[in-house]
Amino acid sequence: MFGKNELESCMDTEWAGRCIHYFEELGSTNIQAKLEAENGAAEGTLVVADMQTAGRGRSGRSWNSPAGTNVYFTLILKPSYAPDKASMVTLVMALAVAEGIYGTCGLEAEIKWPNDVVVNGRKVCGILTEMSAEHGTVRHVVIGVGVNVGLQEFPPEIASAASLQAECGREVSRTVLLVNIMKSFEKYYESFRRNKNLSDIMGKYNSLLVNRNREVRVLDPKGEFRGIAGGIDESGQLLVEREDGSIAEIYAGEVSVRGIYGYV
Ligand code: BTN
Repeated sequence: MFGKNELESCMDTEWAGRCIHYFEELGSTNIQAKLEAENGAAEGTLVVADMQTAGRGRSGRSWNSPAGTNVYFTLILKPSYAPDKASMVTLVMALAVAEGIYGTCGLEAEIKWPNDVVVNGRKVCGILTEMSAEHGTVRHVVIGVGVNVGLQEFPPEIASAASLQAECGREVSRTVLLVNIMKSFEKYYESFRRNKNLSDIMGKYNSLLVNRNREVRVLDPKGEFRGIAGGIDESGQLLVEREDGSIAEIYAGEVSVRGIYGYV
């Protein structure tokens, strides 16, 4: 069973996910969360859906969101830090998802910078963070997460996708997974909020970074180049050593990083 009652009875966090708005069907949990945030929803409110009819991915793509098998949720934050810090919460969530997956089913999930979570080189989770800011102040941040959990057919355009159950060969509880992600998020977000940077968690993040020490193509609109990915710095930028030895600081946004021989 996956639903409001089960989630509420298992959620043993301090604040993240303590208030759950569960829907059997939604267009997009991000859209719903933004509406709720505008209407006064508190920090930590979690919007969860069993299926989405218009799940949204990054760069205007859609997110495959069938019923009864996956996890789709959006967490509402009401931070007091400046808007330029907000993109880092996506990396905090990626780390929380990777740790949550390991704690739930023992799969050693890795992170493809900045925020795809991969298992055995295939994407099992995507994260879409959206912010509303006004006069240099953040009104709210919503972090939307989709994790492929159950066995399913993926459309051909997402051939690099995988599911947790297919990778570990046994059933994975969506409830336990979501609770574990929230617990990890709460822990790592507290240190991010205190420091306003990723200094406490970058070591852990870098240890899970699948691109680390690998040759990558940096798809920068100002010009594509190749280099060797190091790790992230405390602001979440990826450090890439160019062929001439100089270090490029890659800021997530317009830029995407690809492996030379495939998705990672
Ligand atoms: C990506 O393109 O990798 C990001 C995908 C994010 C999908 C999640 S599913 C829950 C939340 N609601 C949405 O509409 N999108 C995000």
